[in-house]
Amino acid sequence: MTVAQRTAASVSDALRTRRSVRAFRPTPVPREVIEELLALASRAASNSNVQPWRVHVVTGDAKRRLTEDLWAALDAGRRDRQPGYPYQPAPDAWVEPFRSRRAEFGDRLYRRTLGVEHDDADGRDRHHRRNYAFFGAPVGMILTVSAHPLVGALVDAGQFLQGLMLAAREAGLDTCAQASFLDFHRVLRRHLPIADDEIVVCGLALGHADHDHPLDDVVTPREPVSAFATFHGS
Ligand SMILES: Cc1cc2nc3c(=O)[nH]c(=O)nc-3n(C[C@H](O)[C@H](O)[C@H](O)COP(=O)(O)O)c2cc1C
Repeated sequence: MTVAQRTAASVSDALRTRRSVRAFRPTPVPREVIEELLALASRAASNSNVQPWRVHVVTGDAKRRLTEDLWAALDAGRRDRQPGYPYQPAPDAWVEPFRSRRAEFGDRLYRRTLGVEHDDADGRDRHHRRNYAFFGAPVGMILTVSAHPLVGALVDAGQFLQGLMLAAREAGLDTCAQASFLDFHRVLRRHLPIADDEIVVCGLALGHADHDHPLDDVVTPREPVSAFATFHGS
């Protein structure tokens, strides 16, 4: 059993074994389990306890219909970012050191794991498309926050998301956060009652990892603490 296949028995275990899973088994996740994970995630800190998050959970027919519409929009090239939305998970131009880290990640995922070369746009599209089926997970989620205190709400949403992903690990489940859904906010709004003053933060796939899939081997590196932390004082 690899580290990633273990169920997390402690917070540090959950942190070490969490990774973005992009191939799931169809095994369902009971609604009570999903509700318990969401209740745990909602223990997240938020500024003045405003709890600005909302979650739309899609399974079964609702998930299938959403996927079909997203694929139709993708195939028709109808990308549709929410106007006036300051949260850009993928800026037009990446700067260093983020450009290099992103390139390393892309190479790891596409070329080294899937055998898709850098100039194989169709191969990349084929993989990207799987985002909209939540990578085969039985449960999809769309996380939104209130647009009113937006920047603060995004920080709070990040805490919620991390809690959800770690709680999933403790339950022996895996996740993948997905900004890909931001490209199709109009489709999401057709399927889900997302209020006008709500902003889509990301999607999330939740389920049982398919440990036999080649994508199960993607483990991403991290910079050492000395690269991002500066200590002051004696
Ligand atoms: C907000 C957010 C959005 C993401 N969007 C996507 C996505 O759309 N598709 C995807 O395959 N991975 C997505 N990821 C996963 C990242 O690629 C992943 O977290 C990163 O490469 C580090 O790898 P790890 O999660 O396996 O540790 C997203 C992660 C975050 C936090």
